[in-house]
Amino acid sequence: MRPTDIHRRHAAILLPSLLLPLLLTSCQTAGPHSQAALSFSVYDNQANQLLARMTLEEKIGQMIQAENTGLEDPSDVETYFLGSILSSGDADPEAGNSLKAWTDMVDALQQRTQLTRLKIPLLYGVDAVHGHSNVLGATVFPHNIGMGCTRDPELVEQAARVTAREVRATGIQWTFAPCIAVPRDERWGRTYEGFSENPKLAAELGIAAVRGYQQDNPANPLSVLACAKHYVGDGGTVFGSAQEGRGMDQGDTRLDEETLRAIHLLPYPPAIEAGAATIMPSYSSWNGLKCSGHKYLLTTVLKDELGFEGFLISDYNAIKQVHPNFKVAIGICVNAGMDMAMEPTRYRLFFQYLKELVEEGVVPVSRIDDAVRRILRVKFAMGLMDPDRPLLADRRLHKNFGSEAHRRVARKAVRKSLVLLKNEANALPLSKNAARIHVSGKSADNIGNQCGGWTITWQGQSGPVTPGGTTVLEAIRKTVSPKTKITFSENGTGAEGADAAIVVIGERPYAEGLGDRAELNLDKEDLQAIDNLKKARIPVVVILFSGRPIIINEALEQADAFVAAWLPGTEGQGITDVIFGDYKPIGKLSFTWPKSLSQVPLNIGDQPYDPLFEYGFGLSY
Ligand code: GLC
Repeated sequence: MRPTDIHRRHAAILLPSLLLPLLLTSCQTAGPHSQAALSFSVYDNQANQLLARMTLEEKIGQMIQAENTGLEDPSDVETYFLGSILSSGDADPEAGNSLKAWTDMVDALQQRTQLTRLKIPLLYGVDAVHGHSNVLGATVFPHNIGMGCTRDPELVEQAARVTAREVRATGIQWTFAPCIAVPRDERWGRTYEGFSENPKLAAELGIAAVRGYQQDNPANPLSVLACAKHYVGDGGTVFGSAQEGRGMDQGDTRLDEETLRAIHLLPYPPAIEAGAATIMPSYSSWNGLKCSGHKYLLTTVLKDELGFEGFLISDYNAIKQVHPNFKVAIGICVNAGMDMAMEPTRYRLFFQYLKELVEEGVVPVSRIDDAVRRILRVKFAMGLMDPDRPLLADRRLHKNFGSEAHRRVARKAVRKSLVLLKNEANALPLSKNAARIHVSGKSADNIGNQCGGWTITWQGQSGPVTPGGTTVLEAIRKTVSPKTKITFSENGTGAEGADAAIVVIGERPYAEGLGDRAELNLDKEDLQAIDNLKKARIPVVVILFSGRPIIINEALEQADAFVAAWLPGTEGQGITDVIFGDYKPIGKLSFTWPKSLSQVPLNIGDQPYDPLFEYGFGLSY
């Protein structure tokens, strides 16, 4: 299926590979610090010297990423010479989610590497996709969909830099971010992980995020490795094309190569140019073939054509999806170019099978050496192999974890991410000196709904999920004059007599396939709250928390003002900064907003482009 109106809509032209360098240049100048592509191959001498000393078992161990909660015994770190460990969204330390518990756990596992012959330190990876949001008290930023509406690469870079500092505070040196997906169907539960439906915007902000995470140099002790994901076409899968019970991110992207390159591959060369140390192949397939085992995509395109010098990390248990026989699947994926396997629990079996595959000649030693060389040169590049550098977490960073300074960056991001969709009779900005403002909605005093998925838990959860943040209701109370009375009812009743009402509604937290929705309507309780407020015959300001454009026609009709706030994270004062006029709304839609579900997906095929709000829309005052 070929996009007919991508040319019109995003003023992006289908970029044959010969024009990609132009994009790189433009993106380079777009970023605050133009830098040549980070070359990891400059560390080949050191990597090769170490490689020459390694046994096959030690090499295979470097290619394995187990999960902290999946370790059958902590001593498996040294027994299997593990190269990496991850904590996915729910893999918390036994001692809980405090900063100390995380730091103690990571340090303890890292120390075990020193019991091995070669003492090669672990890379520890987490999904710090909008701040170090696994950890209580972290600064939680707007999810990428909101950052996309800021159109501000420097702010995206600054947010990533702050996130890197908070991740490093726990001794972790790798985040599985940025997601540079180009989501094309709002029914996808991962839409909010993407910056935009526009590949050029996804590319520009992806570069900024990589630079923010890795900063000038991965050896910077305040930087973390970035991971551009999910390669390639994760945002272009056909709704319903996944195997029974699996999410859209495990579906099939059915496009010709030119269209795949123009939309979904486009953000990767810039991310590589910006120095992304790792790339994560997608669970999804391209025209029926799983990306995780796709030699053309992983080796011919990414490594040979685009010159990617870092290493590929599989997605969580993604390898086993490539073939019913796990050992065969391992052979396919490693031979296709997969360098490290995210095998949370099956790492012992992976170790055994890959060893057998090499001994049987199915996987050549040269492929193992290439994979391990890639992993080692990244570890050399980040100074991990330097015996004079501290092995464990720098706990001096704890004092700035979730600090006011960090939260100010997140608050600015919230402000700039808000998109004003309607403002009848200048309902906004509201007066800080109003006699009374009535606040409503299920998400007005709900930090969990405000942060969305990937917050403390994989799916996120409603309620007081993490300390240190500010809900919208708390922010309103902090913003208005002492004389202003603030009243609250979740269901919108009791607003009579107030000067205005603010109602905060929208989606509850979700992540990945559990967020896929065949319909995109507002909850009945949200609509009821607005109805109840309208009975008070006062101006109603609607604030929507959502991970994507959803069908809002009825609510929009009833609202006097309507703000798309996406999933803003912990800093609710970024919202009151705008609705009470200290800052103007400047956000611009990074996704087209559909009028009805029948239009979704809006960006594909020959249907007329007639949305509720066009890509790039946003009012101000
Ligand atoms: C998940 C996601 C990926 C994440 C990984 C580790 O399934 O697909 O984005 O980085 O597993 O949590």
